[in-house]
Amino acid sequence: MPGRVMRAVRRSREEPNAFARQLFAGLPRRYDLLEEGLSFGQNRRWRTAMVDAVVPGRPRRVLDVATGTAGVALMLADRTDAEIVGVDLTEEMLRQGQARVDARAETRVRLAVARAERLPFDDGAFDALTFTYLLRYVADPAATLRELARVVRPGGTVASLEFAVPPRPVWLPAWRLYTRLVLPAAGLIAGGPEWARVGRFLGPSIEEHYRHHPVEAHVRMWQEAGLEDVRVRTMSLGGGLVMHGRRA
Ligand SMILES: C[S@@+](CC[C@H](N)C(=O)[O-])C[C@H]1O[C@@H](n2cnc3c(N)ncnc32)[C@H](O)[C@@H]1O
Repeated sequence: MPGRVMRAVRRSREEPNAFARQLFAGLPRRYDLLEEGLSFGQNRRWRTAMVDAVVPGRPRRVLDVATGTAGVALMLADRTDAEIVGVDLTEEMLRQGQARVDARAETRVRLAVARAERLPFDDGAFDALTFTYLLRYVADPAATLRELARVVRPGGTVASLEFAVPPRPVWLPAWRLYTRLVLPAAGLIAGGPEWARVGRFLGPSIEEHYRHHPVEAHVRMWQEAGLEDVRVRTMSLGGGLVMHGRRA
């Protein structure tokens, strides 16, 4: 099984968008429930910490990249007065997001299909940008970060949330047990085969990503993309990584 997953990860480097699209196309129906349930509510804490970095800048326009079902976009709408644009490459995820936006009659959130690697916006078009669980799905994280930073005005905030590998040897075995056994089984029971697939994929994908790009390399990529005052916060024993910085 790990061999199959790793082949999928490698394939994702060759045709990254096709792999992510295929992975997420089957998930939207129960996405929000399972995202919270399978993370034991940690996802919401991590999201809140990421949005905390954006709120003090009182942005007027915010771009949320890899917005999926618009959970972060809606949290930004709740906590700021900004107009929010959410983009994602998977239409099925966006359709579910649009239904949530409509259900709340939230007129400040607009959703559109776009790739993080090539955003259809002018330089400096946004006061702040957030992105969540994105960098494992792009072929060139450094180039993608440069593209994300490009659309943020000087002085604007960029904030992100990604999964991470717990750094301490004492938590790593528990994390591996959770991601290799509990997550695929719980995914299958709660969400069916699509979620079992995600459950099998996540652990190896996260470890593979940090083997190629350790946290220090992330910080360097942010700095090389023109972001300064880059802060890193690991949460939940290292399972969540929240970063933020300012466009120079
Ligand atoms: C794990 S989901 C996270 C969704 C949302 N941010 C959240 O926290 O609920 C990752 C999302 O990234 C999107 N994605 C992956 N690669 C992308 C890319 N290159 N450009 C834009 N979106 C991408 C997927 O379609 C998926 O909706």
